[in-house]
Amino acid sequence: TPSGLAMGVGYQVKKIRLGSYVIDSWYISPYPDEYSRHPLLYICEFCLKYMKSEYTYQRHCMKCQLRHPPGDEIYRDGGISVFEVDGRKNKIYCQNLCLIGKMFLDTKTLYYDVEPFLFYILCEYDAGTGYHFAGYYSKEKRSAQGYNLSCIMILPSRQREGYGKLLIEFSYLLSKKEGVAGSPEKPLSDFGLLSYLSYWRRAIYEVLVDGRRWVSVEDISAETGLTVDDVVSTLQTDGMLQRVHGGSGYRVVVDGEKVDEYLRRARVKNPKRVDPKKLMWAPYL
Ligand code: ACO
Ligand code: ZN
Repeated sequence: TPSGLAMGVGYQVKKIRLGSYVIDSWYISPYPDEYSRHPLLYICEFCLKYMKSEYTYQRHCMKCQLRHPPGDEIYRDGGISVFEVDGRKNKIYCQNLCLIGKMFLDTKTLYYDVEPFLFYILCEYDAGTGYHFAGYYSKEKRSAQGYNLSCIMILPSRQREGYGKLLIEFSYLLSKKEGVAGSPEKPLSDFGLLSYLSYWRRAIYEVLVDGRRWVSVEDISAETGLTVDDVVSTLQTDGMLQRVHGGSGYRVVVDGEKVDEYLRRARVKNPKRVDPKKLMWAPYL
C-alpha cells in the first residue's frame, strides 16, 4: 500500500496549505509516496484535491468551480453550514477528506473504503469567497454497534472555538431524528474524550435543570440521544448516581445549584449551539 511504502522509507507529509492556512500534520497519513516527499502539500479547500507544487495549485484554484462540498447543505445557521456527502456518490472527495483527517487522527484507519459512510462537513460561509472547510465527521450508513459517529476532526487552525462540540451536538440531533440512541466509535483520542465528556455533561445537565429531580437514566437517554451507558458513566463521574436499595437500578441525585452554575458558565464559554429548527434532513434509508 502507499502508506506502507511511505512509512517504510520515512516519507511523511509534514505541512499542508489549505485555503489561507498552513497547518502542521500530527500523524502519518498515507498520501501516495510521490506526494509524501514534498515538504508542503497544497490542498484545494473546496474539492480537497492535493497537489505538489504551488504552481499547480494556483492554476487549479483558477479552474476549480466548487465553492462548497459536493453534497447537500442540510444545515445553515448564520455563517455556519453542514453538508452531507455520500461516500459512494463522491468517492474521491471523501478519500481526500479522510487523508486530511488521518493527519490529525492517530487510531482511525479509514481512507479508501469510504462507500459505507456519510460525511458531515462543517463550513464557514463567506459571501465573497464561499464555504470554507473547518472540519468534519464520518458516520456509518448502518452501524451494527449503534455508533452515530466514527471519526471527528476539526482543523487545528479552527480548534478550541467550540466547533468540535457543535458537530458532536449535531451527531446527536441526527440520532434523535432517527429515534435511536447513539455513541461515538471507540477508542476515543484524548481530545475526543475531553470533548465528549464536556458535551455529555452539558446535554445531561440541560435535562436536569428546573428541578427535574425524579428523572430516570432512561428518560435522560431518550431526551438527549445519548446511550444509557454514556449517561451512567457521566453521572457516575459527577457523583450524581445512587444505587437503589435492594434493586438493580440507579437513582439520579441532582445537585441543583451545581447544575445551574455549570450551565451558566457553559453558556458563556460555549455560545455555539445547534438550532434543531435549522436542520433540513431526513434519515438515510
Ligand atoms: N486541550 C485541552 N482541552 C481541549 C483541547 C485541547 N487541545 N481540545 C479540546 N479540548 C476540550 C475543551 O476543553 C472543550 O471542553 P470545554 O468547552 O468544556 O472546555 C472540549 O474539549 C471541546 O472543545 P471544542 O472547541 O468544541 O473542540 P475542538 O473544536 O477543538 O475539536 C476535536 C475537538 C474534534 C477532538 C479536535 O481536538 C480534533 O480534531 N482533534 C484531532 C482529531 C481527534 O482526536 N478526533 C477525535 C478522535 S475520537 C473519534 O473520532 C470518535
Ligand atoms: Zn478544487
